[in-house]
Amino acid sequence: MDKHDTAGTDTRLDEEEAVRRALENYYRAGKPPWDTGVTPPELVALIEGHEPGNGAGNGALPPGRALELGCGTGTNAIYLARHGWEVVAVDLVDRAIEQARERAATAGAAVRLLQGDATRLDELDAPGPYDLFFDLSCYCGIPPHRRDAYAAGLTRRAAPGARLLMFGYGPGTLGDTFAGVTADELRARFAGWELADVTPGTNPFPTFWFTLRAGTA
Ligand SMILES: C[S@@+](CC[C@H](N)C(=O)[O-])C[C@H]1O[C@@H](n2cnc3c(N)ncnc32)[C@H](O)[C@@H]1O
Repeated sequence: MDKHDTAGTDTRLDEEEAVRRALENYYRAGKPPWDTGVTPPELVALIEGHEPGNGAGNGALPPGRALELGCGTGTNAIYLARHGWEVVAVDLVDRAIEQARERAATAGAAVRLLQGDATRLDELDAPGPYDLFFDLSCYCGIPPHRRDAYAAGLTRRAAPGARLLMFGYGPGTLGDTFAGVTADELRARFAGWELADVTPGTNPFPTFWFTLRAGTA
């Protein structure tokens, strides 16, 4: 590795460290702004098979194995477990995972909660395969140089036809240089997956719900 490469590597490690510290500070300061405790209607519609509020209950997704990336304090992992899913949930921040474990225990929900990096899943005991991946604002904050590893980790763990339901902010929304995600990026990065749906979020700034499907081969 020449001097130039070393400098690049240092910059990327600094970037990762800065993101991690910022996230830890949010949890240390108390309840982070995103921690609403409410499962988004888009996940409810997928799992329970009806549009929120219409009570139809048709087309529920048969429960299987789910992996949540960036689970925070566990609201949605607990929701999935309560709906019959075998859930593993990962977050970078130990304080988030501790809170998620307490909440899961209180709720009586069987969720395997792992502190770790969604871009380094091989370091965790989470072999899969998974039928469903759920990501609520995790990927869109991951530094670009780690995103291929995120996609590869999910691809290796995807059951045939697995779904990835992801919510992300558009580029420029979070006020730093790299955060954000676009449909074009996901199409390019998730080789072998189909971007089956892109639905704009309801926020006053650009956000999106992406649904990707893994190949069936
Ligand atoms: C905006 S928060 C959303 C948390 C949770 N999904 C929710 O909606 O309450 C993003 C979460 O992803 C986690 N995160 C960010 N980068 C991560 C990574 N590389 N691996 C695992 N978790 C990560 C953060 O610690 C944080 O809890």
